[in-house]
Amino acid sequence: MLEIHNLTHTYGTGPGAHEALGGVDLKVAEGELVCIVGPSGCGKSTLLRSIAGLLRPTGGEILFQGDPVERTPDNLAVVFQDYSRSLFPWMSVADNVALPLRRKGMDGRQRRQAALDALEQVDLAGAGGKYPWELSGGMQQRASIARAIAYRPTLMLMDEPFGSVDAQTREDLEDLVLRVRAKHGMTILLITHDIDESVYVGDRVIVLSKAPAKVVSDLRVQLPGPRDQITTREHPGFVQLRAEVGRLVRGRQGQAASTG
Ligand SMILES: Nc1ncnc2c1ncn2[C@@H]1O[C@H](COP(=O)(O)OP(=O)(O)OP(=O)(O)O)[C@@H](O)[C@H]1O
Ligand SMILES: [Mg+2]
Repeated sequence: MLEIHNLTHTYGTGPGAHEALGGVDLKVAEGELVCIVGPSGCGKSTLLRSIAGLLRPTGGEILFQGDPVERTPDNLAVVFQDYSRSLFPWMSVADNVALPLRRKGMDGRQRRQAALDALEQVDLAGAGGKYPWELSGGMQQRASIARAIAYRPTLMLMDEPFGSVDAQTREDLEDLVLRVRAKHGMTILLITHDIDESVYVGDRVIVLSKAPAKVVSDLRVQLPGPRDQITTREHPGFVQLRAEVGRLVRGRQGQAASTG
């Protein structure tokens, strides 16, 4: 589905240049949910923008379904970290969610129905007629998630998608992402700073080093399924793996990685 070879990116040139990505290698198979964690500012969003075709990397290669990424692929959706700038303020929430569906050749009624369905899934059933600026931050973030879900992409990229919601909503949205993935067979790449979340939702957790970012660890999460907010988080394998990821993010090498 996705292959990244020795990806590098340097912002600027000369003495002010900043090397954000220092040679990232990553493969994601179809249907996988891969979480990316790493220290703040290490280059996670830079990596995601490169995969989305929004930023031209200064070196290396990204293949999406076998083809080099040169612009944003059609069957891709992105939930941006900066949700407050990702909805058009002059369009209703439902119209924002429906907008990308024009590319799918759906007629107006189908687009509206798909938008309302997705809004219902993120618990925004009553908010379709409102404008984004009438919603709280967390509601805007959920509307951005609804837009990506409605689009049914082959690959969904999510950059800190649950950063601005309360703990209960966050758990609900984690489970929503797991359900959507199971139902529609999407491949998902999810960036999070929440280590527990990465282990809870991920099939794999990729740990990036501080800048210039490289993959320091690629851990497979093997927990008895289906995941459950209470029992999964209590499972000894979960507890062990989250400690391991925590050590790796802080730059300390841990013991053997995988768990079961
Ligand atoms: N457009 C830009 N121009 C110059 N430097 C940039 C630009 N975007 C990001 N950077 C720098 O590149 C580095 C990586 O940024 P990036 O946003 O990818 O990090 P991140 O891991 O997503 O951080 P966070 O955890 O805070 O979201 C940072 O030092 C940042 O200041
Ligand atoms: Mg970021």
